[in-house]
Amino acid sequence: MTHEQGDGYLLVISMSGTKRTKKNVFRSGIFSANLVSTDMLPLMDYFGLHSAEDGRKDGIPYEVVRGAVLDVPVLDASRWVYECEVADTVTTGDSTTFFCRIRNIQMEERLECKDIFDVDLTRLDPVVYSGKHHNIGKCLGSIGDFENV
Ligand SMILES: Cc1cc2nc3c(=O)[nH]c(=O)nc-3n(C[C@H](O)[C@H](O)[C@H](O)COP(=O)(O)O)c2cc1C
Repeated sequence: MTHEQGDGYLLVISMSGTKRTKKNVFRSGIFSANLVSTDMLPLMDYFGLHSAEDGRKDGIPYEVVRGAVLDVPVLDASRWVYECEVADTVTTGDSTTFFCRIRNIQMEERLECKDIFDVDLTRLDPVVYSGKHHNIGKCLGSIGDFENV
């Protein structure tokens, strides 16, 4: 994420090559970003290893609903979903970076977040990809907890 102005944060996402998702985002200017929790690893692998350019992605069961604010497809399995509208794009080589206004956030009720800085990542259990897949360890505290230790 990067800061825009006031309370505005932009979600930054880069897409390389000529994938279908990229074409759809260029065409419509809207999309959803569905965070992946550990229980979604098989779905993530399936979506990441197949392209809609080669046919419908119906080799694994999943439910898709529509966004609450934008008319975008949303994965029922995701505990945290951003509904996004493209504000700006920067293309470098075969990669395009989309800077996107977050028009809505859908979060699973049991996460009980007061705001986007109150996320219990141990409950969200997100997958972090850095060449290999990892999950998150324990919560270490908040800003200020370590100032005078
Ligand atoms: C864990 C994971 C992360 C990925 N991240 C990106 C990414 O950030 N940008 C990108 O362009 N492709 C990324 N990919 C690759 C796309 O998901 C892949 O090219 C997919 O086949 C595109 O499908 P589509 O043509 O239906 O859009 C990722 C794949 C995996 C498995």
